[in-house]
Amino acid sequence: MAIAAKIASALNAHIGLEADASNYYLALSSACAEKKWTGCAKFFLAQSAEEREHLLKIFRYLVENNVVATVPEQKAPAVTIGSMRDLFAACLKSEQRVSASVTVLIDLAVSLKDYATNHFLQWYVAEQQEEEQLFQGLIDEVTLVGEGGTGIYLLDKSIGARAASS
Ligand code: FEO
Repeated sequence: MAIAAKIASALNAHIGLEADASNYYLALSSACAEKKWTGCAKFFLAQSAEEREHLLKIFRYLVENNVVATVPEQKAPAVTIGSMRDLFAACLKSEQRVSASVTVLIDLAVSLKDYATNHFLQWYVAEQQEEEQLFQGLIDEVTLVGEGGTGIYLLDKSIGARAASS
């Protein structure tokens, strides 16, 4: 079944969101490195690469279905980092925006009886759930250890180690 123009355009718009997420995490990696949070810098670099994979997955799906995939326009995100907790809370919000877009896409696919695209998008449902849980978990951890002293140092190290082993 051919992909409807409405769905093609919504998927292309979603490519833009994934590209924004990739750029956002890249900028956060740089900002964390500047703060000497080297574990977080490594983690966000890996997250940025993951988001690019999410973008490419849709890109390939469109091309395989004979739809023109558009390369999104991008501007460099301006990021300033306050506390580590605020950082992860901002990431959770960003992921929730992406999840909301996935929901809209699925609603559209189902409304047009495009069950192949619905099936394709289920991967994103699971992935978004995983990412929201990841950032919620990091918020919980930073809340437990507090923002000062050795706790934050060890948390940063453990975040870096997790990024390296994933
Ligand atoms: Fe691919 Fe986490 O948005």
